[in-house]
Amino acid sequence: MTERPALNVLIVEDDLVDRMACRRTFAAAPEAAFTLVEADNGEHGLGLARSGQADCILLDYGLPDMSGLEFLSRLPPDGPPVMMLTGADSAMVAAEAMRRGARDYLVKDGEGRYLAQLPASILRMLREQRLLDGKRRAEAELRTLAAHQESIREDERKRIAQEIHDELGGLLTGIKAYIGVAIERAGAGADPLLAEASGLAQDAIATVRRVITDLRPSVLDQLGLWAALEWHTEQVAQRSGLRHACRIEPDVSEVELDAGCSTMLFRVVQEGLTNVVRHAHARTVRVDARREGGRLLLTVADDGVGITEERLRNGASWGIIGMQERVRHFGGELQIAPGTQGGTLLRVQLPLEEQQ
Ligand SMILES: Nc1ncnc2c1ncn2[C@@H]1O[C@H](COP(=O)(O)OP(=O)(O)O)[C@@H](O)[C@H]1O
Ligand SMILES: [Mg+2]
Repeated sequence: MTERPALNVLIVEDDLVDRMACRRTFAAAPEAAFTLVEADNGEHGLGLARSGQADCILLDYGLPDMSGLEFLSRLPPDGPPVMMLTGADSAMVAAEAMRRGARDYLVKDGEGRYLAQLPASILRMLREQRLLDGKRRAEAELRTLAAHQESIREDERKRIAQEIHDELGGLLTGIKAYIGVAIERAGAGADPLLAEASGLAQDAIATVRRVITDLRPSVLDQLGLWAALEWHTEQVAQRSGLRHACRIEPDVSEVELDAGCSTMLFRVVQEGLTNVVRHAHARTVRVDARREGGRLLLTVADDGVGITEERLRNGASWGIIGMQERVRHFGGELQIAPGTQGGTLLRVQLPLEEQQ
């Protein structure tokens, strides 16, 4: 014989006769070893629910001190799953209860037939709850992993940028200097190939600088996020021929974000601008940052061909998914949608109190 699981069921019900009927049902149920914890009003029930001893809750609709719906609203979101007991004619109540977080409901009929279904219904609800918990845990773990990898990648970029700068950058500067000296020493008879070589060395230095900056823009560390965003927007516009505007409201420039958050916002705008250049066929791009209530609002808007629903739903949009995950890790939200006047609007909202 398999072991019967031991389960604590909290019943919040003011009618003693109904509670006694439940007691009898659970005592006789072969499916599990149920222990019934009883509360005859809402406040008592909420106290017991918060104490964390109940595996699930059976909730009556009409309680002396509050309605079952109010009870649901006051239950912490990570509280035990709730099965609502409703009257025969209250489909609306059941629907509203589910909307407020009840996991299931049973209709109480006058003859007590619902009692026969109670143990099996509760076990089914708990099975579903376990699956849901498992899924949530897995999602949270994936998110933590993604954030961790992101920070590893950022450190790696910084390290590579440093190395290229110190090693390769130094060598190229040395080569160019030697060629310069050789040209000077040779005077008028200098081989024209030397001048060519000097030009190539200069090109190589410029390339190295660009690669380093793409890996980790030093303005981000030196001048902070807001200046870095203005600088980067201008760079992208110059390279791609886009018209651009970047407006950071004065009250935003006062906001100080920690290094991780600044890097995150910079990378998101960077990816957003790359998308505009790659996909939008736009003439203009705008980057704006302002405060709205306790939130920071950062947008990248273009006047290009726009983005289709189909593209947005396409699971393989790693750029967009990556942006979304990054922002979510800092408690914010990212939306990409068609702009009000055409084009595409990328919008980041970030609660500020969590960042400062
Ligand atoms: N600003 C934009 N304008 C038009 N289409 C866009 C824009 N940004 C993204 N898209 C569309 O969404 C798709 C997914 O973007 P993304 O996840 O960044 O992937 P990738 O840039 O690698 O294609 C793009 O391939 C493109 O079709
Ligand atoms: Mg992209």
